Amino acid sequence: MVESGVTKEHFLGRTLEAYDPPVRGDPITGERYYSKAWARAEWQHVFSKVWHIGGLLADLEEPGDWITHNLMRDSVIMMRQDDGTIRAFFNACVHRGNRLLWSDVGHNEKITCSYHGWQFGKDGTLLFAQDAEDFPNGNPCGKAHLTEIAVDTWGPFVWFNMDRNAQPLHEWLAPLPEQLAGYRMETMVRVLDVRCEIPCNWKIIRDNFNESYHLPTLHPELASFIDDEYTDTSFEMYPSGHNRMVQKGCHPSKRLDYPDAMQPLVEDVLREWGLDPADFVDRATQARVAIQQAKRKLGPERGFVHFESMSDSQLTDYYHYTLWPNTTITMSPDGFQILRSEPHPTDPEKCIFDHWYMMPPVKGRHEVITPVGPRPFKSCERETIIYGEATLGYVADQDMTIAVGQQQGLHSMGYKGGIISGQEKRIQRFHELLNDACGIPGELPDGRWDE
Ligand code: FES
Ligand SMILES: [Fe+2]
Repeated sequence: MVESGVTKEHFLGRTLEAYDPPVRGDPITGERYYSKAWARAEWQHVFSKVWHIGGLLADLEEPGDWITHNLMRDSVIMMRQDDGTIRAFFNACVHRGNRLLWSDVGHNEKITCSYHGWQFGKDGTLLFAQDAEDFPNGNPCGKAHLTEIAVDTWGPFVWFNMDRNAQPLHEWLAPLPEQLAGYRMETMVRVLDVRCEIPCNWKIIRDNFNESYHLPTLHPELASFIDDEYTDTSFEMYPSGHNRMVQKGCHPSKRLDYPDAMQPLVEDVLREWGLDPADFVDRATQARVAIQQAKRKLGPERGFVHFESMSDSQLTDYYHYTLWPNTTITMSPDGFQILRSEPHPTDPEKCIFDHWYMMPPVKGRHEVITPVGPRPFKSCERETIIYGEATLGYVADQDMTIAVGQQQGLHSMGYKGGIISGQEKRIQRFHELLNDACGIPGELPDGRWDE
């Protein structure tokens, strides 16, 4: 069995002391979900200081290829250079501030501003300015540059950080690169990319992904296939602020009255990997290990070459990471999801939600099952959808319906800061890290809020 980083299968079902830091029990106040003072503080102290996924390396193959990513009121360009490196710049003209690029992806030898026609090279240097002799400090060409920011790569992604003094990306990501190496994420292709503006604060979606306490109520159907019983789940909170939860897959929930009763979804996987469900009658919880062994044996010859570097547990289980502060990476045996909520540029009661699904190439496979159903196995285009008019994936849809209702309830004078269970500790820690980063912004001496 290949071990992946600190993850060992026998850790499932308990939380390691080293990854279970104490929390203080700060109230999770309602106004943080709607106050502009909180949104300003989060931008200043958190979002402008951390690493963000800017897009896919696959979109930056040739010199001149670029991608952009908008984050709150700002925007970033990431561009492949002639020497093969990638550089990133704020997407704002240094002449008078006009936004330069408006699409998600593209290719240009020069970036030309649409206002007065200034032209910038791939490295951000100003190459042409109309009436260049008319500037009191001299011709700005060759001297003015787009404002550069930090950029790096990990997995299939380009990452940016607006803080030039940022910690190196691979240090910031720890321990994910080590723990996730076996999946060979860098080989994976984005087969689903949906974006939607959701009428709730970005942290409501964070809170949802930082606990599994809601699974029996909101996603009861998952219990036939994922063991969502909390004493059988591992929770780890890392010094970086990232965290993870690991749940057994191909394993009915121990919450069920009779977990060993066979379930149709488990039967399907048994058959898929050449096993006979009749051999597991009244022993459904033993199917998981048998499926791991079958995948180990048959996977490579069926084209699942990445199985060779994955641990036995990774062949069946769900490794659900939340990066500080706002990106969830859910690893499943078949691929992984990015579930990201970003603050809305102006309204704290809305957010931008991205759901991506990335899958490995498997020889001969042309159609795959994604969270929104079957799709061709090929790099996809972004679908921007109107909330409620199309699916974000059936599990995500279930989560979003509650997110919108919670946004309303958190305004109530009847909500007093939460009563948090042990298995929701990642939420408590998230808000305490946020309190530490932001202070308690906006509160005036008389208890009113600065809006
Ligand atoms: S604002 Fe870009 S050229 Fe003037
Ligand atoms: Fe959920």
